[in-house]
Amino acid sequence: MAQKLNGKVAVVTGGTSGIGLATAKRFAAEGARVFVTGRRKAELDAAVAAIGKSAIGVQADASKLADLDLLFQRVKAEAGGIDVLFANAGGGSMLPLGEITEQQYTDTFDRNVKGVLFTVQKALPLLRDGASVILTGSTAGTEGTAAFSVYAASKAAVRSFARNWILDLKDRHIRINTLSPGATRTPGLVDLAGPDAAQQQGLLDYLASRVPMGRVGDPDEIAKAAVFLASDDSSFVNGIELFVDGGQAQV
Ligand SMILES: NC(=O)c1ccc[n+]([C@@H]2O[C@H](COP(=O)([O-])OP(=O)(O)OC[C@H]3O[C@@H](n4cnc5c(N)ncnc54)[C@H](OP(=O)(O)O)[C@@H]3O)[C@@H](O)[C@H]2O)c1
Repeated sequence: MAQKLNGKVAVVTGGTSGIGLATAKRFAAEGARVFVTGRRKAELDAAVAAIGKSAIGVQADASKLADLDLLFQRVKAEAGGIDVLFANAGGGSMLPLGEITEQQYTDTFDRNVKGVLFTVQKALPLLRDGASVILTGSTAGTEGTAAFSVYAASKAAVRSFARNWILDLKDRHIRINTLSPGATRTPGLVDLAGPDAAQQQGLLDYLASRVPMGRVGDPDEIAKAAVFLASDDSSFVNGIELFVDGGQAQV
């Protein structure tokens, strides 16, 4: 079968774990050269080895503008331009209103909002005509979840970015879409429950009970949707929020 991203250059931020890693593997399998980023060096090296010879690792914190400059200098030098940008790096933590700290706010908004904004803005000179930009949202951006308001608000901001940026970029033929996973079994999700395995399973069971399909998602199921948004299969899809959530946010 023809590869959907043959000869394309893709950048996946937060490509060393969970949804980003699964997507980087799919992008590579579809023929793309894939730059992956993350802050931790050991995880980055392991991810590059797992993705294969078309992967290039760049250690970079997406919330640090100097790191983003180095990332895109490297992409420019080694690939010349970008066809697919998956601004996926992010995450969150749980605290109820009344206990929210400045540190939690800053950490969450720096990763999920500042990082996404400047990842896309700094990539603009390298994005090729017809490029696909994918932002990682979340069902949390449109739902209420106890103790999760800071994360939810950050993902609502991400969804809003896509609506507005397609107007800013309308003369450049760049598509921007938000991919919003529901609960997906990743290290980032299970870590929300802390280090105890029983508590982690309890969280997964609770989240599965909220999903009409009765289970949480697998990272590869999000990656398949990312391939759709990255490829020509979605050539007239622009500004949407694609929920991949087993129906959770649709009921
Ligand atoms: N799993 C879910 O249920 C779910 C649901 C909805 C949305 N999401 C979203 O999906 C995205 C991926 O989450 P995941 O569940 O796959 O989490 P994960 O397993 O924790 O992976 C997160 C990835 O992002 C990287 N990262 C985090 N902060 C970063 C930063 N400031 N700069 C660069 N890289 C950074 C991590 O590597 P380092 O820590 O080494 O930097 C890692 O590679 C996030 O935006 C998350 O909010 C997840």
